[in-house]
Amino acid sequence: MLAGRRIVLGVTGGIAAYKAVLLCRLLVDAGAHVVPVMTESAQKFVGRATFDALASEPVRTSIFDDPDPIPHTTLGQTADLVVIAPATARCIGSYASGISDDLLTAVLIATRAPVILCPAMHTEMWEHPAVQDNLDTLRSRGVLVVPAEEGRLAGGDSGSGRLAEPQRIFESIKEVLSFGDFREKKVLVTAGGTREAIDPVRYVGNRSTGKQGYAVAAAAAARGANVVLISTVDLPNPPGVEVVKVESATEMHQAVTQRNDADVIVMAAAVADFRPKGIADSKIKKDGGPPEVVLEQTVDILADLGARKQPGQIIVGFAAETDDLLANAKQKLERKKIDLIVANDVSAPEVGFAHETNEVTILETNGCATHIPLRTKRQIADELLNKVLGLLGN
Ligand code: CTP
Repeated sequence: MLAGRRIVLGVTGGIAAYKAVLLCRLLVDAGAHVVPVMTESAQKFVGRATFDALASEPVRTSIFDDPDPIPHTTLGQTADLVVIAPATARCIGSYASGISDDLLTAVLIATRAPVILCPAMHTEMWEHPAVQDNLDTLRSRGVLVVPAEEGRLAGGDSGSGRLAEPQRIFESIKEVLSFGDFREKKVLVTAGGTREAIDPVRYVGNRSTGKQGYAVAAAAAARGANVVLISTVDLPNPPGVEVVKVESATEMHQAVTQRNDADVIVMAAAVADFRPKGIADSKIKKDGGPPEVVLEQTVDILADLGARKQPGQIIVGFAAETDDLLANAKQKLERKKIDLIVANDVSAPEVGFAHETNEVTILETNGCATHIPLRTKRQIADELLNKVLGLLGN
């Protein structure tokens, strides 16, 4: 996601400037092209040689001592994102007031790229209404503020105002840059376990709660996709997602078939493999003794999609297993002629049905297997979408 993305890293004068070095490292290691811009006072805390050595380009410090006659507009126009860490009260105030009193504030005013501000200052300054009002103004203009945290401050004090940890800022950058990478893509997701009626009251079902499918739908919508979610469960509709409710495998098959022109189809639903043969019209009464429920096979929706795969379409299946996880998943990937399969061991703790977390291995047709350790279902969803994006690009 960050590979080749051009990020202007603005560093202003605070003791937390040393943490910007770690952020720079994280960004460069992730493949980003980092252009550092330091204010004069930032250079009193960290030497420019440190950023010169770590970043993708030498440090820029001034509008006038730059080989480019208009460095602020060039930097502003070419940036995919501008992040200021740490951002002092002065920098925040200048930006909120539209005053460009150095190269960095000039870049901020000259850019149309997303901007992330990471304030850091002493508690008294952080809590000052002028600073908070300026941050509110900037937020209302679409700037993302990664709030300062509580902890040790310069001079042995402790309180609020500490720069957020570099890893946290890094995650925010990834989130902002990922927004929109599924723009104009149609994504179809299924979620939940199907219910196969025995009679008007009873059904054969499974333990799926639909949480992973909802997380995929929410993540795809947040990244700009046009998402339809075919669901058997009653979870809150993810923002911007069209939800179609179904109950049985047959209904899900119909709903999917009507929309099988999507660019990406993610079959996260736990579709019943068998359904009662013939549904009783009225409730089966106990007096007649235990009924014999004869089962018949349902259609394999994923295999059907795989057989009719459209050019360029990416189809993703899930494999919830209790034994021989990878071998079973690989076999399903091949048999159903799909592009990716997400394998999870539902017998492991905190994994699979009903949990908020999941641990999966994503298998590709080229034999590549990516293990994702225990993460929230939303994080798993984003990792999966990153893989899909790579395949869509090809
Ligand atoms: N699937 C489907 N239609 C079915 C059964 C499964 O579309 N009738 C899809 C699921 O949504 C999932 C994938 O196939 O994406 C794998 O489902 P799973 O139940 O693990 O595999 P099965 O093919 O049913 O094999 P088995 O039950 O023997 O493990």
